[in-house]
Amino acid sequence: MPPAATIEPSPPAGQATSRGADRSGVDKSGDKVRGMFAEIAPRYDLVNRILSGGIDLWWRHVTVRLAPPPLGGAMLDVCTGTGDLAIAYADRAAAPAAAQGLVPRIIASDFCRPMLDRGRDKAAARHPQIEWIEADAMALPFPAADFDLVTVAFGLRNIADTRRGLSEMARVCRPGGTLAILEFSLPANRIVRSGYLWYFRNVLPRLGNAVARNASDAYTYLNQSVEDFPSGERLAALVRSVGFTAVEQHPLTFGIATLTLATRCAGPVTSPAPKNG
Ligand SMILES: C[S@@+](CC[C@H](N)C(=O)[O-])C[C@H]1O[C@@H](n2cnc3c(N)ncnc32)[C@H](O)[C@@H]1O
Repeated sequence: MPPAATIEPSPPAGQATSRGADRSGVDKSGDKVRGMFAEIAPRYDLVNRILSGGIDLWWRHVTVRLAPPPLGGAMLDVCTGTGDLAIAYADRAAAPAAAQGLVPRIIASDFCRPMLDRGRDKAAARHPQIEWIEADAMALPFPAADFDLVTVAFGLRNIADTRRGLSEMARVCRPGGTLAILEFSLPANRIVRSGYLWYFRNVLPRLGNAVARNASDAYTYLNQSVEDFPSGERLAALVRSVGFTAVEQHPLTFGIATLTLATRCAGPVTSPAPKNG
């Protein structure tokens, strides 16, 4: 298991403005992001497996191991997409939960209906109990302190206002509850980082756009949004600033992805500033 650590140097700032456009020009407005994911929804899982060589399944497995399902409690997977992380949690919870009668409530939310529909279809046979809710991560339709665990995988970077999204996650997480963020990051090692950036800039957009057969350049957006997103200590500071403590960062696969874990403090959520960062 990779050790908990604060990892790589932060990339240049690329925070979203209140209009949804990134300071470096990446358009993260809700309509643009929702439309892009609606277009690639039918082939999203396939493209994920091809582009990551299946490693994304391992990253979700690590997430479920280090932030286990709250047996007898409730969890929310924000920006769930086609639900791979929510389903991994349901898989993990199934055996012991059935034995102990402590099945956790699992809610999977996203603002893109076609992505959610794929998730619901995938989970229908094995995990019909997962609740699929269409919701914007910046205005979650849940009461405060409703969840023992809040997770987000490869979604935080897509939310137009990162701080607002994180503040909502803090609001719905109970004091003492856990936040788990799985997100791409830039490897700390310079050689690995330059190889990774070459793949990210040259191979991934072409391969992703071709396999997904999309016209909206979704995988060009992926590469831009990853390079622009705050990671390492900047992400940790952002997480602390909205009401979490005990932030741990676990670099995965040379730091290509990072799992950030944090514990919700007692007390109110810090109100979101108009811009993140
Ligand atoms: C890259 S996908 C990640 C999906 C899934 N969590 C996974 O691990 O594969 C990002 C998802 O975030 C969703 N998303 C982006 N911004 C959102 C927002 N403001 N509110 C809700 N969902 C959002 C998109 O619709 C998309 O399904």
